[in-house]
Amino acid sequence: MTIFIAGGTSGIGYALARHYLEKGYQVGICGRNPGKVPHNTFENLKILQADVCDMDSIAAAVRSLQTDGKPLDIFINCAGSYAEDVAGKISYEEAEEMLQTNILGTANCFEVARKAMKGQKKGSIAVIASVSGILDYENSSLYTKTKRSVIQISDAYRRALKPFGISVTAIAPGYVDTEKLRQLNHNDLHKKPFLTDEETAVNIISKAIENREKLVIFPTKMKWMMKSLSLLPSFLLNMIMFRKAQWMKDNRP
Ligand SMILES: NC(=O)c1ccc[n+]([C@@H]2O[C@H](COP(=O)([O-])OP(=O)(O)OC[C@H]3O[C@@H](n4cnc5c(N)ncnc54)[C@H](OP(=O)(O)O)[C@@H]3O)[C@@H](O)[C@H]2O)c1
Repeated sequence: MTIFIAGGTSGIGYALARHYLEKGYQVGICGRNPGKVPHNTFENLKILQADVCDMDSIAAAVRSLQTDGKPLDIFINCAGSYAEDVAGKISYEEAEEMLQTNILGTANCFEVARKAMKGQKKGSIAVIASVSGILDYENSSLYTKTKRSVIQISDAYRRALKPFGISVTAIAPGYVDTEKLRQLNHNDLHKKPFLTDEETAVNIISKAIENREKLVIFPTKMKWMMKSLSLLPSFLLNMIMFRKAQWMKDNRP
């Protein structure tokens, strides 16, 4: 099996790479700064420099994995840009990077993956959205709106790629205990409910891809909380989410 993971050089992406490497699969990972990957002790791991905002660089990275006409079995896009924008402190540069990476980057990854897989008549594509993208409410953050777009872009590609035997799985995780999440929160995750560790996240994500599921929301408690909130009238949902954002902002330096 050959797996390509865009945004696989740290966090959830790198944890997924290790999972597939331990199964003996051929894995390619990329990021803008591949130097941050710990010393490579895996024979089957190829570390590449590529930016999801530059489709040609992603296509070249995928091609370098497909030597001898090897099929591409799984393409996972974990690349994402997130900032602590609940406090309304997001800068123009952060907003631009978020829009480019999360929206344009998602579309670029789908395009590269579908071109690589189309002739094979099989394959699985997965993208990491966020549980925050499940709810539709007026005052959601820019990050939430980009992740909602990721889920919707996935829906469109799922329909289009079904006749070619290619599955599309959108993953909507709640908080996952990665170094990046810790950095953004000054190592204080006490306001991150239902926190999931990387290993549990990897097991859920890899199983969902294997089962060709459409959308996976985890952890279960977060999923049910979102489902219950989605039943509320919009004014009430807006108010609750505003209060939650205020609560998260409290005590922030
Ligand atoms: N951790 C959570 O609580 C959580 C919850 C819900 C959803 N998510 C989503 O899960 C994904 C992974 O998050 P994480 O916590 O594992 O963060 P992370 O460690 O920062 O992982 C992001 C990965 O994407 C790469 N990347 C970023 N921009 C890129 C670009 N333009 N082109 C190529 N690679 C790029 C990063 O490497 P470089 O910076 O070197 O390029 C890194 O390898 C993100 O999409 C995030 O939105 C995370």
